Amino acid sequence: MLKKEIFILAVESSCDDTSAAVFKNEHKLSNIVSTQEIHEVYGGVVPELASRAHQQNIVPVVDQALKKAGITLQDLDAVAFTKGPGLMGSLLVANSFVKSLSLSLNIPLIGVNHMQGHLLAHFIKDENQDKSPDFPFLGATISGGHTQLVKVTNHFKMEVIGETLDDAIGEAFDKCGKMFGLPYPAGPEIDKLAKEGDPKKFVFAKPQVKNLDFSFSGLKTSVLYFLQREIKKNPDFIKENLNDLCASFQYTAVKILTDKIKKASQQTQIKTIAIGGGVSANSGIREKLKEEAKKRDWKVFIPPFEYCTDNAAMIAIVAYFKYKYSYFSDLTSTAQARFKITEH
Ligand code: KG4
Ligand code: ZN
Repeated sequence: MLKKEIFILAVESSCDDTSAAVFKNEHKLSNIVSTQEIHEVYGGVVPELASRAHQQNIVPVVDQALKKAGITLQDLDAVAFTKGPGLMGSLLVANSFVKSLSLSLNIPLIGVNHMQGHLLAHFIKDENQDKSPDFPFLGATISGGHTQLVKVTNHFKMEVIGETLDDAIGEAFDKCGKMFGLPYPAGPEIDKLAKEGDPKKFVFAKPQVKNLDFSFSGLKTSVLYFLQREIKKNPDFIKENLNDLCASFQYTAVKILTDKIKKASQQTQIKTIAIGGGVSANSGIREKLKEEAKKRDWKVFIPPFEYCTDNAAMIAIVAYFKYKYSYFSDLTSTAQARFKITEH
């Protein structure tokens, strides 16, 4: 017989954020995220540095999450970790830490798929989010590491119907931003500068990818060649056109994404669209989706930013659904760098 109140601690360490969350059923009590700043100077995540930083951060982050939730380790009913996909060295930190908690506290261990977490983040309940999408819905996970379109039939039945063949959309923002001379991660800065620019000033290549898959490396190359040509004529070209460059790039990236969402909605006849991942903070994407929602009678869900970027709350919500069905892992369960959305 299921207890009425289930307390779960979840830990996420798949990339460069160390995070711990405590949930009471589907309600978030705390969600602490420690972002590793060490990678900024390298212009991207350095895996070896990430796993070392996770080791340093994990105890204080878990401690803070429990304190903020107002509970102790002894109150927990289960512990959860991100099993994959992600950086192996990073994943192993939460994996071994949480396994030792499960063993010492004698409570169930729950391994969670990070990509399922991004999609089910819409079901987290807190003061800023009390509505969730009805099934089936189309999920788009868009971040620095992922670009996936997923048909979500229920909490555990998910099918990838489109994904990037090369760069992730956030990677395209970061790499093109680097060419524009912007600091990493460049997405938020491009978004800000784009507001002052003309989105139609420059035309960049849109890839012709069949079905529902994406490609963003062609856009990156198109920006690169264009800049090389223009800089030859005018060395100050970027400086003089920065806002228009950002606006035109963002316009193209948003169009590539939203065109595929439209196609996916037509093909599946699903009109509930739920997006997540760091890039869903982008104001161009938000505006375009709202506009399409009006035109096409879509219901669009975008979670609070706290649940878009990598966080342990999204791992805790999946763990809660798994707990209800007794989908537990055993102590031999280990991290998996490559992990399909259909795997648990
Ligand atoms: O989800 P996230 O924090 O980490 C993973 O990649 O898993 O996403 C980070 C990505 C970066 O590529 C960053 O440039 C992008 O999200 N990003 C944005 C915006 N805010 C963050 N891209 C475009 N517009 C934004 N406002
Ligand atoms: Zn992620």
